[in-house]
Amino acid sequence: MDVILVLDFGAQYAQLIARRVREQGVFSKIVPATWPAARILEEKPAGLILSGGPASVYAEGAPRLDPDLLRAGVPVLGICYGMQLLAFMLGGEVAKGEHCEFGRARLEVLDEDEILAGLGPGPLEVWMSHGDLVRRAPAGFRVLARTPSTPVVAMADREHRLYGVQFHPEVVHTPRGREVLANFLFRVCGCRGDWTTSSFIDAAVERIREQVGGGRAVCALSGGVDSSVAAALTHRAIGDRLTCIFVDTGLLREGEPEQVVGTFRDVFGLPLVHVPAADRFLAALRGVTDPEVKRERVGELFVRIFEEEAARLGPVEFLVQGTIYPDVIESGTATAATIKTHHNVGGLPESMVFQLVEPLRELFKDEVRVVGEALGLPEALVWRHPFPGPGLAVRVVGEVTPEKVEVLRRADAIVTEEIRRAGMYRRLWQAFAVLTDTRSVGVKGDARAYGWTVAVRAVESEDAMTADWARLPHDLLEAISTRIVNEIPAVTRVVYDITSKPPATIEWE
Ligand code: XMP
Repeated sequence: MDVILVLDFGAQYAQLIARRVREQGVFSKIVPATWPAARILEEKPAGLILSGGPASVYAEGAPRLDPDLLRAGVPVLGICYGMQLLAFMLGGEVAKGEHCEFGRARLEVLDEDEILAGLGPGPLEVWMSHGDLVRRAPAGFRVLARTPSTPVVAMADREHRLYGVQFHPEVVHTPRGREVLANFLFRVCGCRGDWTTSSFIDAAVERIREQVGGGRAVCALSGGVDSSVAAALTHRAIGDRLTCIFVDTGLLREGEPEQVVGTFRDVFGLPLVHVPAADRFLAALRGVTDPEVKRERVGELFVRIFEEEAARLGPVEFLVQGTIYPDVIESGTATAATIKTHHNVGGLPESMVFQLVEPLRELFKDEVRVVGEALGLPEALVWRHPFPGPGLAVRVVGEVTPEKVEVLRRADAIVTEEIRRAGMYRRLWQAFAVLTDTRSVGVKGDARAYGWTVAVRAVESEDAMTADWARLPHDLLEAISTRIVNEIPAVTRVVYDITSKPPATIEWE
């Protein structure tokens, strides 16, 4: 299988580059740009893409590339900072930041070479976002494109297979960016484009069999797509030597427990332990209002119950987890501030000695979904919106009581039903209800009512790192609001959250 490595120089867009490559059927991975050449070449890459990044090549401590990589015979494509670094390291001239260029630009293509093949003579619309620029390409490079303000927007040293583009081919605002990447992947690197869902499934099943051997595994099913797909894949590999443990926290969405148990026990015939534990979770949450304490309490109790159940099964050596690629990347970038502790239900209980089986470690969410469908998981489970591990507990602002959870669960189901009815469910990253701790006066049937305020949240996002509040049609908001206040007596008001992330997070707590 061909592998393209994306060397991450701290770009906002490194993940996007990796996805764009995979969308063309070529497997790609993000690795730190600072890795030594030997470590990078160990992966046997078919090509390297140097990402953009916030630094200037002149800044102290600016990330560099191991120069041996430029002599290794592996094709290199530098994007933005990546191209400036190529120019800088190879003796070109990089001009310091007087000319910030941000947004759309139109290129004049001077020379199509391989990387811009089929894209000339322009004008070619691209997206730029840079301070520094390459004023003179290094010796041996040809200038392929320019704009009135940027003399080198693309350059190539065909002999050494080194390429650079100042613009961002990975963003949608570069309409023909896909072709630029395809040129690099197929013309320059000679990739075959044979990375598909079924090749992934076969390889993953094989890997799991090798790892688990004749051993036994447990999996904490949360109802979410990641753990479900990880379980289905592992089941395909080792059959009934996998037991799933489904801890019903009582904090799940409407219909979720039934669907999880139904799918895995009844459809797949997989050994599944169903632990109804709502009372224990509600007891652990009594009197707690702090969101981080809620996360802690749910997390701790989850692990305890999981340990109790796993111990009952006898010796088990492996724990299957639905860790996906963004989780791996995020935990690798050590400096990010903790905004909120993400308790992943199914997270590794530290006191337990398991070897981890993480078959989805290299996939993005949308790829996980495609794999889930190919494995025969029901559409409603595969496409269900992400849901936080601590569940409805972090969507009830203030103390969590059984009554409030019930109100929220119903309101949430109404939001989902109406959004599905409007045909918008798949387009949204998440849509849900929050039960605020604000009460307000209403009038229901000529009488004064004093009830809860429900907030509706719907966002569009690619990866949950940033999100836009969704511009839902007013009629849809109206339908949601009317149903919630009519069908849930305890609610007198519905508001819509119009904050994007950042500055708000997606969840309220
Ligand atoms: P935030 O609220 O941080 O959420 O913008 C980003 C994404 O993560 C989900 N989320 C969680 N997932 N455990 C999880 O497994 C958690 O504690 C948790 N908190 C938030 C959230 O639903 C969104 O998709």
